[in-house]
Amino acid sequence: MAKDVMEYRKDFPLLMNDTSAYIDNAATSQRPQCVLDAELKFYMEQNANPLRGSYPLGVAATEVYEDSRKVVKEFINASSTKEIIFTRNTSESINVVAYSYALDNVKEGDEILVSIMEHHSNLLPWQMVADRTGARLKFIECDRDDASVDLNKVEELITERTKIVAITQVSNVLGRENPVRAIADLAHAKGAVILVDGAQSTPHMAVDVQALDADFFVFSGHKLMGPMGIGVLYGKKKLLKNMQPFLRGGEMIDSVQRESAKFAELPHKFEAGTVNAAGAAGLAAAIKYIQSIGFEYMQERELMLTTRAMEGIKKIPHVKVFGSDKPEEHTGIVTFAVDDVHPHDVSEILASDGVDCRAGHHCAQPLLQYLGVNSTTRASFMFYNTEDEVDRFLKSLATIRERMGYGN
Ligand code: ALA
Repeated sequence: MAKDVMEYRKDFPLLMNDTSAYIDNAATSQRPQCVLDAELKFYMEQNANPLRGSYPLGVAATEVYEDSRKVVKEFINASSTKEIIFTRNTSESINVVAYSYALDNVKEGDEILVSIMEHHSNLLPWQMVADRTGARLKFIECDRDDASVDLNKVEELITERTKIVAITQVSNVLGRENPVRAIADLAHAKGAVILVDGAQSTPHMAVDVQALDADFFVFSGHKLMGPMGIGVLYGKKKLLKNMQPFLRGGEMIDSVQRESAKFAELPHKFEAGTVNAAGAAGLAAAIKYIQSIGFEYMQERELMLTTRAMEGIKKIPHVKVFGSDKPEEHTGIVTFAVDDVHPHDVSEILASDGVDCRAGHHCAQPLLQYLGVNSTTRASFMFYNTEDEVDRFLKSLATIRERMGYGN
């Protein structure tokens, strides 16, 4: 049974101690006490190097780490824990696929298809693969007004030469959800694999990697109320099995000789060195916290907050919102520009009024170029934000042009 949002806010020490309106959740979310407790508990009661010691603490550490993997497996409905690799973050997960899958499976003349709205994390690794292999990078463009993707155009772009399609499930700038299952079908029909970037979707919607038919699916813990420094790479077992390890070193081996090594089974083949077990425990706690609330309640609140923000912005002259004019097509993300005022000035003035927003290119420069701007300001909501925080944001936003010396 969902509680009042003010009750949930009490779970977040930072939200209780900080008086500003934190609406930069697409950059990173805040963490509830249960996540902090899970990390602390690991170091205070369970700390040993996981997957190594057979003494009780070593066993406890391994159990915490592997139990966290089970929680992640259930969260995204993978078919096996062997398909869940812990990494540092989304960027690292994509790099594993680029280095360990793509460099061995893409050759000169092949094509890699990404979308124009990719975060740099889902672009730069593919630029590297294209540079090294001689493959061609192609782009799915979205509608400049409503951020939608035309599946007919995607179908035209995927050819027999396409080896990889890499696309975000939700844009970190425009907030619109892409039809990744339909794109997966188009990719598979031509023999390509699809990587789905779930960094901005996993905090806001239930994901089922099997229903999406994603070959690879990646996300970060810190955006869904988990710790920083823990991320996930999901991959279909048949693909991961045939891939070379990305990093080599401790605990990713079966046996080692002077000149060669036999690697460990999945998933440990991809987890060289001492792992972030406390981070994994924190991520599992965050997932359980989300499950205790339910996405239905979170989505209802996030839509209400987004609608309030977008309706409010409509009443402020000279402010333009990017992407769809429907709040339900924003996944809590409202990116905007104020005529004549630089986005960094916008965010500084908002900050001076106690409102925390991100300004800049949001690590998506090709998208901003495509939209004809250098930078924008972005408000991004999580279920724990309040109507009062949205109103403080709108009140401050309404004064900005005047404070910068422009009339309304
Ligand atoms: N990917 C994060 C953002 O969009 C950092 O702000």
